[in-house]
Amino acid sequence: MSKPTYILGIESSCDDTSAAVVTDGALLLSNVIASQAVHEEYGGVVPELASRAHQQNIVPVVDAAIKRAGITLADLSAIAFTRGPGLLGSLLVGTSFAKGLSLGLRCPMVDVNHLHGHVLAHFIRRDEADRVPSFPYICLLVSGGNSQIVLVRSPRDMEILGRTIDDAAGEAFDKCAKVMGLPYPGGPHIDRLASEGDPKRFRFAKPHIQGLDYSFSGLKTSFLYTLRDNLRDDPRFIERNRADLAASLQATIVDILLDKLSKAVKQTGVKAVAIGGGVAANSGVRNAVQEFCDKHGIEAFIPERLFTTDNAAMVATAGYFKYLDREFCPYSATPYARVTV
Ligand code: KG4
Repeated sequence: MSKPTYILGIESSCDDTSAAVVTDGALLLSNVIASQAVHEEYGGVVPELASRAHQQNIVPVVDAAIKRAGITLADLSAIAFTRGPGLLGSLLVGTSFAKGLSLGLRCPMVDVNHLHGHVLAHFIRRDEADRVPSFPYICLLVSGGNSQIVLVRSPRDMEILGRTIDDAAGEAFDKCAKVMGLPYPGGPHIDRLASEGDPKRFRFAKPHIQGLDYSFSGLKTSFLYTLRDNLRDDPRFIERNRADLAASLQATIVDILLDKLSKAVKQTGVKAVAIGGGVAANSGVRNAVQEFCDKHGIEAFIPERLFTTDNAAMVATAGYFKYLDREFCPYSATPYARVTV
C-alpha cells in the first residue's frame, strides 16, 4: 500500500495565522486559526502589528495543526504556503517559516496564490461523501481586497471574466459601515443589522458598466450623501435607521453582484456556481446565490462560513492539487503583495 499524502497548509496573508493538514482526496484532518484582535482599536489592519502577531502565533498554530491531524512533521509530503497576494510583512512570516521547515525536513514546498485558495475552498472535504463542484464552474470571489467573477476550468486553469473597477465588495461593506460608526470590519455588523431592517427603505446608486465588470464607488458616494443630507435635519438619523440602512445597503451590493453573476452564467453556460472570500459569509449574498441557482437549475456551492474567511484548509487544498502535479516551489521564491487570479 502506498504511503498516504499529508499536505501542511500555512496561511499568513493578512491578520489570521492559520495552519491545516489535508490528506488524500483533500480530506481535512485539522484546521487551526489564530485571529488577531489587536487591530480592532485601530479600525483596520495595522501591517506591522500583523507581522509581529504572525511571528508569535506561527509555531504554536503549526504545532497544533500537526497534533490535531494525528501525524508528525516527518509524515508530511509537502508544505503549502500562501505566497501572495497580501501584506508583504505578513506573507514573509509564512513564507520564511515554510522555507525553514522545508529545509529542515527535506520536504518539498508548494506556493499557493491566496485567491486560488478561496476559489478551490469547495474541494475541502470533511467527509468522503462531501459534494464538490465539477469543472467548469463560476466562482464569485468576494473578499476585502478582491472582487472577481472567475471561470474555473481546472485547479490550474482560471479566467477572470469580470472584476470590480474600484473597491472590492468587502471594502464597500466596511467603508459604509465605518461612516455609520460601526467597528471594523463592518461587513459582519451590516449583515447582522440587515436581518432586522427593510431592504427597500432606501435606494442607492447602482453602476451602469458594460460587460461583466462592476463598481462600488457610486454606491459608496450615494450612501454617504444619504447620510449627510438626512443628518442635517435629524442628527440621530443613523441611530434611528441603522437596520434599514444596513438592509438597503446589503440589498444593493447583492443586486450589483447578482446582476453580473447571472450574465456570466448566461454567457458561459456553466452548470455550477460557487462563492468564496470573506463576503461569501454574508447572509444576503448566500441566500441570493442559492435562490438564483435554484431558479435556473444550477448547482450552488456555498461554503461553510469558516472556509469563507482566511484559513489554511483552503491553502492546503490548493497545495494538494499542485502537489499531485509535482509543481514544487524553489527556495528562491519570494512573496508578492499583488496579483489577480
Ligand atoms: O477574505 P477575507 O477574510 O480577507 C481578505 O480580504 O482576504 O475578507 C474580509 C472581508 C471584510 O471586508 C469583511 O467585512 C467581509 O469580508 N465580511 C463580510 C462578512 N463577513 C466578512 N461582509 C459582509 N457580510 C459578512 N457576514
